[in-house]
Order: sequence, then C-alpha cells, then structure tokens
Amino acid sequence: MRDVAIIGVSQTKFGELWDISFRDLVTEAGLKAVADADIEGAEIEAMFVGNMTAGLFVQQEHIASLIADHAGLTPMPCTRVEAACASGGLALRSGIMAVASGYHDIVISAGVEKMTDVVDPTPAIATASDQEWEAQQGVTFPSLYAMIAKRHMHQYGTTREQLAMFSVINHKNGALNPLAQFPMEITVDQVLNSSRVADPLRLLDCSPVTDGAAAVILCPAEDARKYTDTPIYVKASAQASGTIALHDRRDITTIDSSVHAARTAYDMAGLEPKDIQAVEVHDCFSINGLLAIEDLGFVEKGQAGPAVEDGITQRDGKIPVNPSGGLKSRGHPLGATGIAQTAEMVWQLRGEAGKRQIDGIEVGMTHNIGGTGGTAAVHIFGR
Ligand code: COA
Repeated sequence: MRDVAIIGVSQTKFGELWDISFRDLVTEAGLKAVADADIEGAEIEAMFVGNMTAGLFVQQEHIASLIADHAGLTPMPCTRVEAACASGGLALRSGIMAVASGYHDIVISAGVEKMTDVVDPTPAIATASDQEWEAQQGVTFPSLYAMIAKRHMHQYGTTREQLAMFSVINHKNGALNPLAQFPMEITVDQVLNSSRVADPLRLLDCSPVTDGAAAVILCPAEDARKYTDTPIYVKASAQASGTIALHDRRDITTIDSSVHAARTAYDMAGLEPKDIQAVEVHDCFSINGLLAIEDLGFVEKGQAGPAVEDGITQRDGKIPVNPSGGLKSRGHPLGATGIAQTAEMVWQLRGEAGKRQIDGIEVGMTHNIGGTGGTAAVHIFGR
C-alpha cells in the first residue's frame, strides 16, 4: 500500500443557494480544488462523488455521468458513493483506497447535495433510516436523535443547557467561517427558547437544510511535494457499519460504528485520543456532538455534557471540536459534509483557517456518520 496525501481542497458557500444548479455546484467545488492543487483537470484519473439522494432532492440519478460530462472530464471514470450523511466520508475513503492501491495516481473525491429545491426535505432524509421499522411508522431524524438525547439525559444526567452549549460553541466558530450557512453567534437562552422540533431538541439543536459541495484532490504521498509545499498526509482511513435501526442497538447512547471506526483509525495511525489536536465531528443534532466526543475517546462515556460545559471543546480547549462551525453552523448538505470536514481539517493543518485558526496543530481527525450510525467514517490527517 502507498501512503496518500491531500494536495488540494475546496468548499462552496453553504446555504440556500437558489441561483446555482446541482451540476454547477459540484463543478464549482471541483474547479476550486483543482486550482488549489495547481494541477490541470486532465491530470485527474478518477473521481468519486458522495451524494445521498439527488434522485429525491433534484430528481436526478446517474449523477456520476452527469458530473463527469458537465465538468468536461469524460471519459474519466466517475463513481457515485452513497451512505446517507456519510456519503462524503466514504467518497474520500474510496479515493484514498484507489491511490493507496496504486490503481490511480491523482484522484478527486467530492461531495454534493442540493436539499432546498423540495418543499419538505424530511421524507427524503428519512430514507436513511429503516423504512419498515422507523420511517413508515412516522419517525424522522430529529425524533430519532431526540430519543437518543432523552436516554442520554436519563442515563447520565446530561442537561438541556449542556446540549445547548454544544450549539453555542459551534456557532462561535462558525461566525468566523465565511463559507458557513449560519455564521452568527447564539446564546444558550436562544437555543432553549427556539421552537421545539422533537422534544427535547429545538431548532437551534438541529443542523439545517443545506445546499453545498466540497472536493479534495489526492495523490501518492511520495509525489505530493511536486504540487504543494504543504501536503497533508492521510494517517488513517477507517469505516465501520452499525445497525440501521435504533431499536437494534445494544445501547442507544453509544454509536458502536463510531467506536469501531475510531479504534481502527487510532491503530492504523499508531495514535491515541490524546494525540488528536482538533476534530470535526458529525453533530447533525447537538446530542450527536456529545456522543461523538465520547465515542471517539476524548471523554469517558456519559461525561460529554460536563466536558462541553467546562469548555474543553472550545477552540482553545483541550480538544477543539468543529472549528468550522460544524454541521450546526457551517450547514449540512448531506453527501458533501464528510468532504467539507476534510477541507476544514486541511486548512487547519496548513495554517490557512483565517480567524478560526487553531495554533500550531499537527494532527487532526474527522468523524462522519450516516443515519443514526448505520455507517461511520473516521479519518486522521497530519502535516
Ligand atoms: N439553525 C438556525 N436557523 C435555522 C435552522 C437551523 N438549523 N433551520 C432553519 N433556520 C432558520 C431559517 O433561516 C428561518 O429563519 P427566518 O425566519 O429568519 O428566515 C427559520 O429558522 C425557519 O426556517 P424553516 O426553514 O421554516 O425551518 P423549518 O422548521 O422548516 O426547519 C428544521 C427546521 C430543524 C426542522 C430543519 O432544518 C431540519 O429538518 N433539520 C434537520 C436536517 C436533518 O435531519 N439532517 C440529517 C441529519 S441525520
């Protein structure tokens, strides 16, 4: 296996983007990543695109062909990768495996979702849950995560305020991110008084409905310095599966796929949680941010609430979490999220994250999950 490096990254503005089409959105991300890597489009040998459900959001399937065609990259092979909200993380992993195996040299892994063209995105998002046992019974993602939140509060004494703190810290970081969908600071009171979505979760506990795309360019580590002075190396790429339905879990307050993927990633990189200097976690709802810092090993099980309250996840804390603003503030265009997390970590490791820069970090992690944890992808990157 060859070592792999990232030589280019990009993210489009995230938000409700009425004036750009699905195909233009992902092409914009691709072109920006190519420019960032300072390569020619023709040098790219293969593309992997993470997308959850263009068929339901923009009535377009066969998007791999559409994208290669629209970007003028035919006959380059392009493959769509789908794993709900973890589609981006798995598109990245597919690209890494293609380069590591020696099958291709320069690969682009992208992610895209255009969610705001439908009146109600909730039924489309709910297809990532178990149709027979969850969605068809009327359960939605906010309500699935609400059940997890209730259980975590019951089992560990996690408070409503501690959940709110997670959103507050995300927005504090996101306010410094010009590409974020909701770049404003919020307070605990605003979270507690925002409209109720699925008790105990409120509007400001939820990631929004987002249009956006992101891309990364990969090459063999040994070639990386031909393209850039600051290659970022892939130290680990791990993936795990979990039960799709919540009721089949041994414990709904732990996402076992995150635990397994993290353990594999730490082993692969020869690192431990204490070595990670920043992490982008999959906080589709505030409770999931809390589960993530437990499942990735940064705090003991059940201790995420007090840890967030103590400020350890702030940008100057012991383990800075979501310097980009996370899914809550940056936005969550499902299939693009895993790639956008990677772009943020690369900017942080290069020292190019502007006002939200964490000083002097050498090693960072991304954590991207699909559904309530049916899929998890964990990556570790280093300078
Ligand atoms: N954070 C902050 N503000 C938000 C927001 C969010 N998550 N979602 C919407 N808003 C704002 C809107 O900009 C709008 O503001 P305005 O009145 O000033 O224009 C207002 O809140 C109402 O927006 P609207 O689009 O009507 O909200 P909604 O009630 O239709 O949707 C949610 C809110 C939380 C239900 C929706 O964002 C949602 O379903 N989120 C979860 C998405 C999801 O499940 N993703 C997959 C996770 S696994």
